[in-house]
Amino acid sequence: MGCLISSNGEHPMITKEQTKILTSTWHSIHGDLEKIGLLMFMGMFDNYPETRQFFGLSGGSIVLEDPAVIQKIREHGLRFMTTARKLVMNLDDKDKFDRILLDLGRRHHGYKADVDLIEVFGQQFIASIQPTLKDNWNPAVGEAWEQLFKCVSSRMKDGFLQAQSSPSNTELLK
Ligand code: HEM
Repeated sequence: MGCLISSNGEHPMITKEQTKILTSTWHSIHGDLEKIGLLMFMGMFDNYPETRQFFGLSGGSIVLEDPAVIQKIREHGLRFMTTARKLVMNLDDKDKFDRILLDLGRRHHGYKADVDLIEVFGQQFIASIQPTLKDNWNPAVGEAWEQLFKCVSSRMKDGFLQAQSSPSNTELLK
């Protein structure tokens, strides 16, 4: 059962109205992806220092003067944004949408990621698009993105668990 259809509530569902909201917000933010990605990861490393270790960053304050650190954060931000774009572009194709997330979840098993932090990534993303959206921001926009990230979390966790029970799948996907 995918995220884009609902019947038994096994996975959260994105409504048609939310699909429209997600697509139109994406059009408003897509020119600012690098800035949003940077903002998101900086905010996340500050608010949730436990996320740093997964990206090879140590504790203490992040040294913004260090170009290598900035480059690393920028790259992570852009990778994350590329996935967000793929998901929004495939809201009408539930099989592809699910496949993207299952594969990503399986690969995150290989990165030894903490899947319980996926929702934190989503919250930081939502906080980071607000300055760009300005007057186009409203509670329905927030709810639509929260719903999307509930799906992301649920499907990535499924992929993660699949890799856990069959680690050779992760190797094939690398
Ligand atoms: C909303 C959830 C997330 C999304 C959309 C996401 C997306 C991505 C993407 C697109 C990559 C690039 C490599 C690839 O495609 O396999 C990546 C790499 C990675 N992610 Fe995530 N991620 C998420 C959550 C997390 C979480 C919760 C953690 C750890 C707590 C994490 C840790 C990592 C690590 C360690 C890498 C590889 C290292 C690197 O890129 O240098 N991710 N992620």
